[in-house]
Amino acid sequence: MRLDILTIFPQMFDGAFNHSIIQRAIKKGLVEIHLHNIRDYSKSKHLNVDDYPFGGSSGMVMMIQPIADCIEKLKSERAYDEIIFMTPDGERLNQPIVNQLSMKENLILLCGHYKGIDERIRDQYITREISIGDYVLSGGELAAAVLTDSLIRLIPGALSDETSALSDSFQDGLLSPPVYTRPADYNGHKVPAILLSGNEKEIRKWNYEQALERTRKRRPDLLEGQGDS
Ligand code: ADE
Repeated sequence: MRLDILTIFPQMFDGAFNHSIIQRAIKKGLVEIHLHNIRDYSKSKHLNVDDYPFGGSSGMVMMIQPIADCIEKLKSERAYDEIIFMTPDGERLNQPIVNQLSMKENLILLCGHYKGIDERIRDQYITREISIGDYVLSGGELAAAVLTDSLIRLIPGALSDETSALSDSFQDGLLSPPVYTRPADYNGHKVPAILLSGNEKEIRKWNYEQALERTRKRRPDLLEGQGDS
């Protein structure tokens, strides 16, 4: 998979991509992440990337020219499966969307700032708009980092234990059951006995029941519609 991230703050991704699973996936060659500074494409004298909105409303708007030139250059080099704009008014990210996008080859992620981007970018280039939640961030960078992380952990080979992505919360429509590790007794706080029993079938059943119970309590919305058919 190749991700091209368009941003005016490429340094914001330094910390996010230089650790753990993402770093290992990059080193293994499972994913390529290319950061593009939108300012490098500005043709204005002072390398501006934003301007006042027509119509006189407040805030600044990201200009069409630098973003369009950057996208055009990338599109001339390879075909992209999706050109995604990170924005609070996009479709809300969830595991099915992540699963779907993780199977793509080439993605562009565009990070907005200020009041928004010139609508003509959205009209002409953007194929998908994604929000990571109903709150407003100061820019799309953190949202793009969240999407990137959620995608990379699904690429085969990115996780050391390949089955562990399958047992993630949400992958089967349920939250994950509680997990424990040694010691089995910590100052009288004991691990549920079933997990020490060695009975795989009973442990699987217990895990499923715990996942169901947790989902019922915390996220009943995930169960709505299930079992209707
Ligand atoms: N940019 C600003 N807020 C955002 C959000 N909630 N999701 C995606 N991109 C954003």
